[in-house]
Amino acid sequence: MADPKKLFLKTYGCQMNVYDSERMAEAMGAEGYVITEVIEEADMVLLNTCHIREKASEKLYSYLGRLRPLKAAKPGMKVGVAGCVAQAEGTEILRRMPLVDLVVGPQSYHRLPAMVRATEQVVDTDFPPEDKFDHLPRRKGTGRPAAFLTVQEGCDKFCAFCVVPYTRGAEISRPVERILTEARGLAERGVREITLLGQNVNAYHGAGHDGSIWGLARLIRTLATIPGLDRIRYTTSHPNDMEDDLIAAHGDLTALMPYLHLPVQSGSDRILKAMNRKHGRDAYLRLVERFRAVRPDILVSSDFIVGFPGETDQDFADTMDLIRTVGYGAAFSFRYSARPGTPAAEKPPVADEIANARLQELQALVTQQQRAAQEAMVGREVGVLYEKPGRIMGQMVGKSDHLHAVHVGDPTGQPGELVRVRITASSTNSLAAVRISA
Ligand code: SAH
Ligand code: SF4
Ligand code: F3S
Repeated sequence: MADPKKLFLKTYGCQMNVYDSERMAEAMGAEGYVITEVIEEADMVLLNTCHIREKASEKLYSYLGRLRPLKAAKPGMKVGVAGCVAQAEGTEILRRMPLVDLVVGPQSYHRLPAMVRATEQVVDTDFPPEDKFDHLPRRKGTGRPAAFLTVQEGCDKFCAFCVVPYTRGAEISRPVERILTEARGLAERGVREITLLGQNVNAYHGAGHDGSIWGLARLIRTLATIPGLDRIRYTTSHPNDMEDDLIAAHGDLTALMPYLHLPVQSGSDRILKAMNRKHGRDAYLRLVERFRAVRPDILVSSDFIVGFPGETDQDFADTMDLIRTVGYGAAFSFRYSARPGTPAAEKPPVADEIANARLQELQALVTQQQRAAQEAMVGREVGVLYEKPGRIMGQMVGKSDHLHAVHVGDPTGQPGELVRVRITASSTNSLAAVRISA
């Protein structure tokens, strides 16, 4: 038998790209490709790209530049670009980098195998009417106990800074039955934790088999009944799509983990308006309070953009004040990056040194809060799902209910075990714990 062909797959960007990469690898598997970690032996290199900030986008071109000698030495090697840069730049990628053989946008991944077979350069950045997931092979999973599952894609919100509505298209929700089937399949193969993904996951409104439209809460409540599925998470939520039943579910569903990623971007009403977020600071704060009322230990995280065009010292002070008011368990913060084609890119930017200084100040505060949230776990009993052995012999690592990385001394522990532990110490980015029960 001939050796299988080898696929080198590199993933940038968000969790949705991680999920898509897994599905693309499976589609290519059906074509006889196996994954390799060694780029030199690849028959195909596929880059799943991110367009969210300029730096993320530029990574593609620097990587392709470094691929040139390899492609020259091995002309038969195919080079493919998938993901959000593929969608945004399409044929421009071929113009800048003629070594690329194919460009495929995020809604056309089911067409990838046919594109790989083509003998000339191909670009597919359609938003086809059919659902890519229906036309990809049945999901196999990776063998790890925690998995992502995309339930919703695209965005209709058009925040003034953001490319996602252009790269991922309009909001669509996958039908309920398809999601339940995929989740049952994962559970049968040992997956115990599922993170439901969507650019606006709480805008989920999928068609149920009974003809009714299901919201995210109903979907989660049904997923929680699948035997073996012990933990459910979801990300990313938008404050304007939050339904009462989802908040309530955090109070009464033990499978729903006490962690909420709810990006606010800014704490200034003026900037929120300029960003076209369509909600104010108070509405956000009230929402966080409602979650805490039903689940007092819930950890909240957010994304922040600093240096949005027009951001004044007072606007930034409002953001810092909001962060102090909420008290985050974690936060991701970015310097505003002007993206081609977005409304905010037309406006005069904040000076680099001001934006940099604000970013540093904000990051210092959220780091302090993240450490405090970790410290507060010491002495508490929580669940941990073991993912893999740690670097030290006899140690397991996994995620706590609150999504902290936890190291547990447990020489007989196995990946996939969900155990109760007591947290004993907190270090920079993880917690230490002892196992107290099965
Ligand atoms: N749908 C999610 C976020 C998707 S993008 C939401 O609405 O919250 C992930 C994060 O990247 C955003 O929350 C934002 O903080 C950041 N981001 C998006 N566009 C950006 C830009 N042009 N410059 C800097 N950060 C940006
Ligand atoms: Fe981008 Fe806003 Fe949509 Fe989030 S809600 S993906 S930030 S446009
Ligand atoms: Fe990046 Fe596209 Fe995700 S732009 S953040 S990979 S949706």
